[in-house]
Amino acid sequence: MHKVGPVTRMLIGAAPGKLLGLRVCLMLMLGASIMCATSLGAQAPKAATSQAKDAAPSAYVGGDVCATCHEEVAKKFEGNPHTKLVDQHGVAGANCEGCHGPGGAHVEGGGDVTKIFNPAKASAKEIDATCLKCHSSAHPDFERSPHAKAAVGCTSCHDIHNSKEEKLLTAPQPKLCFQCHTDEKPQFDMPTHHKVNEGLVKCSDCHDVHGTFEKSNLRSRNDSNLICTKCHTEKRGPFVYEHTPVKGEGCMGCHTPHGSQNARMLNMPNINLLCNQCHSPVAAGTVHGMNAGSSELTPCTDCHTMIHGSNMNAAFLR
Ligand code: HEC
Ligand code: HEC
Ligand code: HEC
Ligand code: HEC
Ligand code: HEC
Ligand code: HEC
Ligand code: HEC
Ligand code: HEC
Ligand code: HEC
Ligand code: HEC
Repeated sequence: MHKVGPVTRMLIGAAPGKLLGLRVCLMLMLGASIMCATSLGAQAPKAATSQAKDAAPSAYVGGDVCATCHEEVAKKFEGNPHTKLVDQHGVAGANCEGCHGPGGAHVEGGGDVTKIFNPAKASAKEIDATCLKCHSSAHPDFERSPHAKAAVGCTSCHDIHNSKEEKLLTAPQPKLCFQCHTDEKPQFDMPTHHKVNEGLVKCSDCHDVHGTFEKSNLRSRNDSNLICTKCHTEKRGPFVYEHTPVKGEGCMGCHTPHGSQNARMLNMPNINLLCNQCHSPVAAGTVHGMNAGSSELTPCTDCHTMIHGSNMNAAFLR
C-alpha cells in the first residue's frame, strides 16, 4: 500500500525544510511534461539512494494513501486537471504530493498537521514557488509581475480544490478582476467599450496577468499592435500607404481600448481634435482650401476613410 513508485518519489513541492536533497523540475512544454532531476548539494545523491531502498517516514506515499483519510477531498479531486499528472506518469495518486510535498511523516503521525505543507497557511510567495516548480515554463515572468510584487499570488485567482470555473479560477472573468480593479470597472460601462461584461472579449485577451515584459501586463508580442490585430485583422497591413502613427504610436496612439465616450473608442471626444493633435488645423485648412476652424464641421474621416492605411491612395481617400 505504501508503494513508492519511481515517479512519485521524484515529485516536487516539498514543504520548506523537508526537501530530501532531490529536486526535480517538471516542465510543461506544449502540453507534454518532461521531468529532469537535479541533485542539490553534495548529500543529494546519498539521500536519493537511501530513499530508493525503502520509504523513509518523510517520503512520498502516493495519493491513494491520502485518500484513505481525506476521502472527500480525494473524491472531489477526480476530474481535476491535476490528475493529468497521474495519466502522464502512470502512477495512481501521484497528484496530492506534487503540491503538498512528501506525506510520509504526516501519515506516520496519524495526520500530524505540522508535517505536511498546507498552502492555506503559507505566504503567497511560498505558494507561488510551489506552483512555479511545474508552471514556470508557461509563466516564466510571474515573479516580477505587478501581481506577484503586490502579493497577489496563484491562489488569489486559482482555487485548486473548489473551483467550478474554467482554469480553476476563483471566479469567472471579468468578475474576478473587478474584485480588485474597481477603477477599471466604469471604463467598461462607457458608451463604447470592448464587451467584456457581455462576455465577448476577455481581459486576458489583451493582458497576461502572469506577467510580461510589456507595461500594464499587456500580452507580449513582437509587434505590440498584434494584441489588437489578432482580432482586427483588417487593420494589420502592411499597406502601400501606411499612416505613420499606426505603426509608430500604435493603436493606443488614437484609441483607449477599455472604453470611451467616442463611438469609435477614440482617445479624443471627436475625430478632428484627434487629427489636429498632429496635423495643424491651419495647414489642413490651407490644404483643403478651408479656413482654419471650418474643418471642424466635417469629420476628417468623411473623406480620409482609410485612416489605418490604404493600398490605393496616399491621402487615405477611398
Ligand atoms: C492517517 C490519516 C491521514 C492520512 C493517510 C493523510 N492525512 Fe492529511 N490529515 C489527517 C488529519 C487527521 C488531518 C487534520 C484534520 C484535518 O484537517 O482534516 C490532516 C490534515 C491535512 C492537511 C491540512 C494540514 C493543516 O495544516 O491543517 C493537509 C494539507 C493534508 N492533511 C494533506 C494530506 C496529504 C497530501 C496526504 C497524503 C500524502 C494525507 N494528508 C494523508 C489525516 C491523514
Ligand atoms: C495543484 C496543487 C494541489 C494538489 C495537486 C492538491 N492540493 Fe490540496 N491544497 C492545495 C492548495 C493550494 C490548498 C489550500 C486551499 C486554499 O487556500 O483554500 C490545499 C488544501 C488542502 C487541504 C485542506 C487544508 C485546509 O486547511 O483547508 C487538504 C486536506 C488537501 N489540500 C489535501 C489534498 C489531497 C488529499 C490531494 C490529492 C487528492 C491534494 N490536496 C492535491 C493545492 C493542491
Ligand atoms: C507537480 C506539478 C504541478 C504543480 C506543483 C502544480 N501544477 Fe498546475 N498543472 C500541472 C499539470 C500537469 C496540469 C495539467 C496540464 C494540462 O492540462 O496539460 C496543470 C494544470 C493547471 C491549471 C490549468 C487548468 C486547466 O483547466 O487548464 C491551472 C490553473 C493550474 N495547474 C494551477 C496551479 C496552481 C495554482 C498550482 C499551485 C497551487 C499548481 N498548478 C501546481 C502540474 C502542476
Ligand atoms: C490575477 C489573477 C491570476 C493570478 C495571480 C494567477 N493566475 Fe493563472 N490564470 C488567470 C486567468 C484569468 C487565467 C485564464 C486566462 C489566461 O490563460 O491568461 C489563468 C490561467 C492559468 C493557467 C492555464 C492556462 C495557461 O495560460 O497556462 C495556468 C496553468 C495558471 N493560470 C497557473 C497560474 C500559476 C502557477 C500562478 C501563480 C504563479 C497563477 N496562475 C497566478 C489568473 C491568474
Ligand atoms: C482590448 C484590449 C483590452 C482589454 C479587453 C482589457 N484591457 Fe486593460 N489595458 C489595455 C491596454 C492597451 C492598456 C494600456 C493602456 C495605456 O497604456 O494606454 C490597459 C491597461 C490596463 C490597466 C493599467 C491601468 C490603466 O488603466 O492604464 C489595468 C489595471 C487593466 N488594463 C485592467 C483590465 C481589466 C481588469 C480588464 C477586464 C475587465 C481589461 N483590462 C481588459 C487593453 C485591454
Ligand atoms: C486579489 C486582487 C487582484 C485580482 C483578483 C486581480 N488583480 Fe490585477 N492587480 C492587483 C494589484 C494589487 C496590482 C498591482 C498594483 C496596481 O497596479 O494596481 C495589479 C496589477 C494589475 C495590472 C497592471 C497594472 C499596471 O498599472 O501595470 C493589470 C493589467 C491587472 N492587474 C489586470 C488584472 C486582470 C485582467 C485580472 C483578472 C484576470 C486581475 N488583474 C485580477 C490586484 C488584483
Ligand atoms: C478578442 C478580440 C479583440 C481584441 C484582442 C481587440 N478587439 Fe477591438 N473589438 C472586438 C470586437 C468583437 C469589437 C466589436 C464589438 C461590438 O460589436 O460592439 C471590437 C471593437 C473595437 C473598436 C470599436 C469599433 C466600433 O466601431 O464600435 C475599436 C476602436 C477597437 N475594437 C480597437 C481595438 C484595439 C485598439 C485593440 C487592442 C488594444 C483591440 N480592439 C483588441 C474584439 C477585439
Ligand atoms: C491615427 C489614429 C489611429 C490609429 C493609430 C489607429 N486608429 Fe483605429 N480608428 C481611428 C479613427 C479616426 C477611427 C474612426 C474611423 C471612422 O469613423 O471612419 C478608427 C476606427 C477604428 C475601428 C472601428 C471602425 C473600423 O474602421 O472598423 C477599429 C476596429 C479600429 N479603429 C482599430 C484600430 C487598430 C486595431 C489599430 C492599431 C492597429 C488602430 N485602430 C489604430 C484612428 C486610429
Ligand atoms: C499621432 C499623430 C497623428 C495623428 C493623431 C494623425 N496623424 Fe495623420 N499623419 C501623421 C504623420 C506623422 C503622417 C506622415 C506625414 C508625412 O509623411 O509627412 C501622417 C499622414 C497623414 C496623411 C497622408 C498625407 C501625408 O501628408 O502623407 C493624411 C491624409 C493624414 N495623416 C490624415 C490624418 C487624419 C484624417 C487623422 C485623424 C483621423 C490623422 N491623420 C491623425 C501623424 C498623425
Ligand atoms: C471634404 C473632404 C475632406 C475633408 C473633410 C478633409 N480632407 Fe484632408 N484632404 C482631402 C483631399 C481631397 C486631399 C488632397 C489629396 C491629394 O492631394 O491627393 C486632402 C489632403 C490632406 C492631407 C495631405 C496634405 C498634403 O500635404 O498632401 C492631410 C494631412 C489632410 N488632408 C488632413 C485632413 C484633416 C486633419 C482633416 C480634418 C481636420 C481633413 N483632412 C479633412 C479631403 C478632405
